[in-house]
Amino acid sequence: MTRQQEVTPVWPERLADIDSKVEAIELPEREIDVDQDEEWCEVVVSGERRRIRFHDYEDLFQVPGLYEELFYERLGCCSPSYISNLLDSVVREYGESPQEFRVLDVGAGNGMVGDELSRLGVQSVVGIDIIPAAKEATGRDRPNLYDDFRVADLSDLAEVEEERLRRADANCLTTVAALGYGDIPPRAFAKALDLISTPGWLAFNLKEDFLREQETSGFSRLIRRLNRDGFILTLCYRRYQHRISIAGEPLYYVAVIAKKLKDLDGELIDSLGSV
Ligand SMILES: C[S@@+](CC[C@H](N)C(=O)[O-])C[C@H]1O[C@@H](n2cnc3c(N)ncnc32)[C@H](O)[C@@H]1O
Repeated sequence: MTRQQEVTPVWPERLADIDSKVEAIELPEREIDVDQDEEWCEVVVSGERRRIRFHDYEDLFQVPGLYEELFYERLGCCSPSYISNLLDSVVREYGESPQEFRVLDVGAGNGMVGDELSRLGVQSVVGIDIIPAAKEATGRDRPNLYDDFRVADLSDLAEVEEERLRRADANCLTTVAALGYGDIPPRAFAKALDLISTPGWLAFNLKEDFLREQETSGFSRLIRRLNRDGFILTLCYRRYQHRISIAGEPLYYVAVIAKKLKDLDGELIDSLGSV
């Protein structure tokens, strides 16, 4: 069973179709001790009160404005603008311009990164997300922002989909707030990197815990290997506050801006397992 089929929306019907509005968002007591992967809130939408887990994006994206209100207004998330601005400043430091970029935005969600990239004046942006709700929400909330938006699983990419993505001729990869925690696994990230040209640019963020040497998600090992074997060169590695948790504690992430210097080989991608 795919992840898309497993998700059961908490809403009784497609609220997005009935012009639903967020009436209230209630976070749990600050004392509550839950892992970031388990965080939740209660929301009232069109008179209906529902509990939503933060990582149930299907449910979040169905209600216009809910994702923005929850993460950006209430929990102070800054990552889409932070990563885009950092990319802009590093690229310019190296004598290049984002206006030359054709971007692949992986884990695009409802398009907030696309919004920031368009402010930088990039040539084009193609979004990829694993859930159809992300594409629908982007079309609803930010129409015409993405040149193309594909619903695809980069861990198991159909040949025809891969060809279409390669035709976009992307020279920059962005992935924001989408790596780890059961979202994009290392193999899918490596595949995304494989889809952009060489030389190319990449900008991503990751919870700092995932980059510790003893960490088991595989990202820390993959990123060290990509640098060590000359596939990428990390130009900027910056710790920053991504947002606060529901308990009001800072959640620190690392922003990475790097250059892709060498094509990935099949052996590297295969060594990352089947997910
Ligand atoms: C927290 S949202 C981030 C959205 C956007 N990048 C932003 O910063 O607002 C994470 C997104 O990653 C997507 N995602 C999770 N696993 C994925 C995968 N394997 N491939 C592509 N997208 C995935 C989710 O569906 C969700 O839309």
